[in-house]
Amino acid sequence: MYNLLKGKKGIIFGALDSNSIAWKVAERAHEEGAEFVLTNAPIAMRMGTINELAEKTGSQIIPADATSMEDIENLVEKSTEILGGKIDFVLHSIGMSVNVRKGKHYTDPKYDFTTKGWDVSAVSFHKVMNVLYNKNAMNEWGSIVALTYMAAQRVFPDYNDMADNKAYLESIARSFGYFFGRDHKVRVNTISQSPTATTAGQGVKGFDGFIKYAEEMSPLGNATALECADYTISLFSDLTKKVTLQNLFHDGGFSNMGVSTKIMDHFTE
Ligand code: NAI
Repeated sequence: MYNLLKGKKGIIFGALDSNSIAWKVAERAHEEGAEFVLTNAPIAMRMGTINELAEKTGSQIIPADATSMEDIENLVEKSTEILGGKIDFVLHSIGMSVNVRKGKHYTDPKYDFTTKGWDVSAVSFHKVMNVLYNKNAMNEWGSIVALTYMAAQRVFPDYNDMADNKAYLESIARSFGYFFGRDHKVRVNTISQSPTATTAGQGVKGFDGFIKYAEEMSPLGNATALECADYTISLFSDLTKKVTLQNLFHDGGFSNMGVSTKIMDHFTE
C-alpha cells in the first residue's frame, strides 16, 4: 500500500455487497489511508451487507436516495460533520434501468421506466454535484468519479436504455466538470469499466456470454472490480491532479479492438 489517500475524506455511493465495484473502492481507499462515509439507497440497506463494510473500514453509513435532493443535502451536510471538514473525493457507482428489470425491449420501453432509469443512473450524478458545488463542500484539487460503460459509444443490443443513460452520465461529467474545475479546482471524470460480475452487471441479458466475449477480445483480458478500484484510487490521489473532463477506458484494451485472434479462432476452427 502506498498511502495515496492519507488524510483524504470522501463519500462512496453504491456499495451493495462484496461484489460491488464501490465495495472494492471502499476497501482500497481504507487501505490507502482515507476516511469516508458510505451511502446507498434506503432499500439497498435492507437488501445488502453494507454494515459489514462499514465495520471493516471504520466508516459511518448515511442512507440517501441519489434521486432526492433532500437526501443528498442531508448526506453532504452530515458527511462534512462526521469527517470534520470538506470532501476530497466522491465515487458515484449507481446504475439501474427499470426497463431492463421488467424485461421491456429497447424498441418498446415504458417511458415512465425510462425516466426513472435516467434519473437514477445519470441525473443523480448532476444532483450530487449540484449539492457539492453549491454548498462549496469540496476541497480544492478534489476528485469526483462516476462509473460508466462503453455502450455509451458503441452498440450493445442487450444493454437496453442503460446505453442512453451512460451517454447522459458521461455528458454530465464533462458539462459539470467544466464549472467544478473553473470555480473550485475539482476534477470530474468517468471510468468506463469492463463487464464485471456484480448485481447490476448480471442484470444485463446474456451477461455470461458477453463477459467471455469481452475477455477473449481484450489483449489484457477483462478488468476486475478490484482493478477498477485501484484505478479509481489513482484518480482520487494527488498523482492525477490535471486529469479532468475525461471518459477513461479501463477495459484491458477492449474499446480499441476490431477483432482478436482468439475470437477469430471461433470462426476458422
Ligand atoms: P451494484 O449492483 O453492486 O451497484 C449498483 C448500486 O446502485 C447498488 O449499490 C444500488 O443500491 C445503487 N442504487 C440503485 N438505485 C439507487 C438510488 N436511487 N440511490 C442510490 N443508490 C442507488 O453493481 P456495480 O456493477 O458495482 O455497479 C456500479 C456502477 O458501475 C454502475 O454505475 C454500473 O452501471 C457501473 N458499471 C458496471 C459494470 C458491470 O459490468 N458490472 C460495467 C461498467 C460500469
